[in-house]
Amino acid sequence: MRKRLERPAAIMVGLLSSWLAYGQVSPEPKPPMSEEVFKNIQVLKGIPVDEFMGTMGVFSAALGMSCENCHAANDSDWANYAGDNSPKKRMARRMVLMMAEINKTHFAGRQVVTCYSCHRGGDRPKTSPNLDTIYGNPPEEEPDDFVPPATGAPSADSVLDKYIQALGGAQRLAGLTSFVAKGTSAGYGPESAQRPAEVFAKANGQRTTVIHSLNGDITTVYDGRAGWISAPLRPVAVMPLTGGELDGLKLDAELAFPARIKQLFGQWRVGRMDTVGGHRVQVLQGTSAGGTLATFYFDTESGLLVRLMRYANSPVGRIPTQVDYSDYRDVAGVKIPFRWTLAWLDGKESFEMSEVQPNAPIDPAKFAKPAPSSAPARPAAR
Ligand code: HEC
Ligand code: HEC
Repeated sequence: MRKRLERPAAIMVGLLSSWLAYGQVSPEPKPPMSEEVFKNIQVLKGIPVDEFMGTMGVFSAALGMSCENCHAANDSDWANYAGDNSPKKRMARRMVLMMAEINKTHFAGRQVVTCYSCHRGGDRPKTSPNLDTIYGNPPEEEPDDFVPPATGAPSADSVLDKYIQALGGAQRLAGLTSFVAKGTSAGYGPESAQRPAEVFAKANGQRTTVIHSLNGDITTVYDGRAGWISAPLRPVAVMPLTGGELDGLKLDAELAFPARIKQLFGQWRVGRMDTVGGHRVQVLQGTSAGGTLATFYFDTESGLLVRLMRYANSPVGRIPTQVDYSDYRDVAGVKIPFRWTLAWLDGKESFEMSEVQPNAPIDPAKFAKPAPSSAPARPAAR
């Protein structure tokens, strides 16, 4: 009969060891698991709910589908949605098991085959090569997530030193201990109008962004240890972030004050040169203690960071997030990007700051777990 994914045991071991590590200190509350939040979970059990939602993003991206292709349209009562088990949804469950089986049986359990390996953004994988692409222009190469070390590349230290220097130097960076930024953010699709946005950041590693959308506030908080996203009309109103997604928020918070960038990763790999937005860039990759990958693209001319790619894990493939930084301006002697675009599988936000107030006092409540977004009443389900 059907086999479950091998994940629950691994998760339990993880929880147990973090429990032991904290000793007498009160342990982190256990993040809610997918099957505790939703009623009809059959294969993707035993993973935290943020990873489950990330998995839905991987499904959609890998197959070039939107949520509605597998779920009833306009469904907003996700928790009670025991699901019409649409044929595509049932097929997707079988595919999760097939994929896990292939990796287990043929690749020693390494996650090398993902939904994307076969589907490449389409619902039906291609069965034959296209002769036009063999004899015509080769399709654009998609770089691997792992950056192989390049020979003759500069040292990671020299690239990171140049970055610190370009930002204003270590001394000026040390003088900036917090900032409050105000501006706008534009989403993607129906959310593409500009909405007021704020960023609160402290050099002790805390960072909060708030987007005041018409449906309610979208708040992302990293308090130095835990992180949450509170947003209207989402399956989970205040979603605690775990694993690679939490590492990602931590990284965003650290990069707001990059003085400690060298220490962020135990291991840095210096890769090839590349091009981002017409600029030559030097690629650097770090792997965190937890195995999360982050790839940095530094403009070879200015030395500044123009792109960050970071990846969280899911049972069906990595979940990528891309941040593009631009419009660096001087704030208290330190260069800060006034524009950045955050793209992930579930959306895209383009931030544009109009003022950044350095060393402003920030109410600690800004970094507390956010309340559910007080949105206008949910649209009636179906
Ligand atoms: C390729 C099909 C597919 C796509 C596309 C897809 N899902 Fe799912 N979704 C599933 C399957 C399969 C399950 C049940 C998983 C299980 O049983 O382990 C599920 C379950 C869910 C659940 C739990 C409640 C329920 O219906 O069982 C939520 C919430 C959810 N999906 C949200 C989304 C969102 C949001 C998107 C778009 C970003 C999305 N899904 C895209 C296949 C899909
Ligand atoms: C080893 C290759 C392979 C992998 C990996 C794979 N698929 Fe598939 N998938 C296929 C093939 C081939 C078909 C088409 C089958 C057919 O035409 O009858 C398909 C069809 C589907 C369909 C039905 C599409 C439709 O429009 O009817 C869904 C949904 C689907 N896959 C989801 C997934 C998901 C989700 C994953 C990752 C968990 C995944 N697949 C991984 C090969 C793969």
